Amino acid sequence: MSKVLVTGGCGYIGSHTIVDLINNGFEVISIDNFSRSNPLILDGIKAITGKVVSNYNIDLCDLEATKKVFEDHTDIEGIIHFAAYKMVGESVEKPLLYYHNNLVSLTNLLQLIEEFRVQNLVFSSSCSVYGNATELPVTENTLTQKAESPYAHTKQMGEAIIENFAKCYPLKYMLLRYFNPAGAHESAQIGELPIDRPQNLVPYITKTATGELEQLSIFGNDYPTKDGTCIRDYIHVMDIGGAHTAALKRMQQDPDGDWANIYNLGAGVGRSVLEAVQTFEQVNNLQLNWTYADRRPGDVIAVYADNQKAVNDLNWQLNYSFEDIMKSAYQWELTLADKVLV
Ligand SMILES: NC(=O)c1ccc[n+]([C@@H]2O[C@H](COP(=O)([O-])OP(=O)(O)OC[C@H]3O[C@@H](n4cnc5c(N)ncnc54)[C@H](O)[C@@H]3O)[C@@H](O)[C@H]2O)c1
Repeated sequence: MSKVLVTGGCGYIGSHTIVDLINNGFEVISIDNFSRSNPLILDGIKAITGKVVSNYNIDLCDLEATKKVFEDHTDIEGIIHFAAYKMVGESVEKPLLYYHNNLVSLTNLLQLIEEFRVQNLVFSSSCSVYGNATELPVTENTLTQKAESPYAHTKQMGEAIIENFAKCYPLKYMLLRYFNPAGAHESAQIGELPIDRPQNLVPYITKTATGELEQLSIFGNDYPTKDGTCIRDYIHVMDIGGAHTAALKRMQQDPDGDWANIYNLGAGVGRSVLEAVQTFEQVNNLQLNWTYADRRPGDVIAVYADNQKAVNDLNWQLNYSFEDIMKSAYQWELTLADKVLV
């Protein structure tokens, strides 16, 4: 069985990916300092998979503490590096926090990859590296633009750091650029745990549905789109998890194969905000309290991925629909409403 280190394994995407990795026979260890997550997610992973995942509660910016994990596990074959701060607005207010956390954790990890001769790395990147994309759908060849936020800049820099490192160390790596991950595991044992007010549409919708938030605002209904609202590419978080498993398998089974280093992970379909709200209402058989509000500065009108490269090269299948996203997200929100978070 192949051992994988998942950083940020108690976070939203990390936890769903761990479930998929375990289901595919990988042994997983995690590093997560719970700065943006909660230990209850480990219970959820256990409830789904029957496996207890060892999580090291340490800060990846602490090189010595991180090194101890590598000393305990000299047989790590691959690393999936999710751990990072991800809130665009917070990154604008606290840029140094973002540059420090997201980049020092990465350079520490690369230093240890070199020292302990780890072969394979998958890095969480983001469609935000494309900035205001110049073409639709966005392919991996679409030119990246100036980053719109310090957060996006840490992703561009993270990609460049890995690319440069791999020129002098024989690392196999993939940079996966996610579009809009959403939804939750169908068991509702794990899901997204936004700290403070949610920044993404789907948790905003689910928290409005439970009454935790009073009203949902749709920002702008006069954009040049089919119904006037912005368009995004929502992809089920379990499909994102599946892509990571597929990426690791491809690198391990075919290390010198003809695969690329950069892949877009999206559903490949643009959905409007209004469509998201209406689909949520329909599949969950309820009415949301929502209203139109003014456009929000900085919002891109439309962005969605061409995902064919990932589908073909990684032998990756998308198993979940837009409706599944909306159903599972609500089920998770209902579970969460009953939990006491410590
Ligand atoms: N969720 C999205 O919409 C989205 C979109 C594009 C890219 N991404 C990227 O995917 C990755 C995972 O995102 P997520 O949604 O699961 O985020 P998340 O905040 O739920 O998970 C990140 C995890 O990393 C941990 N962490 C952060 N800094 C750490 C450090 N220095 N040491 C140890 N642990 C640390 C946090 O506690 C958290 O559990 C991030 O790199 C994010 O930038 C996310």
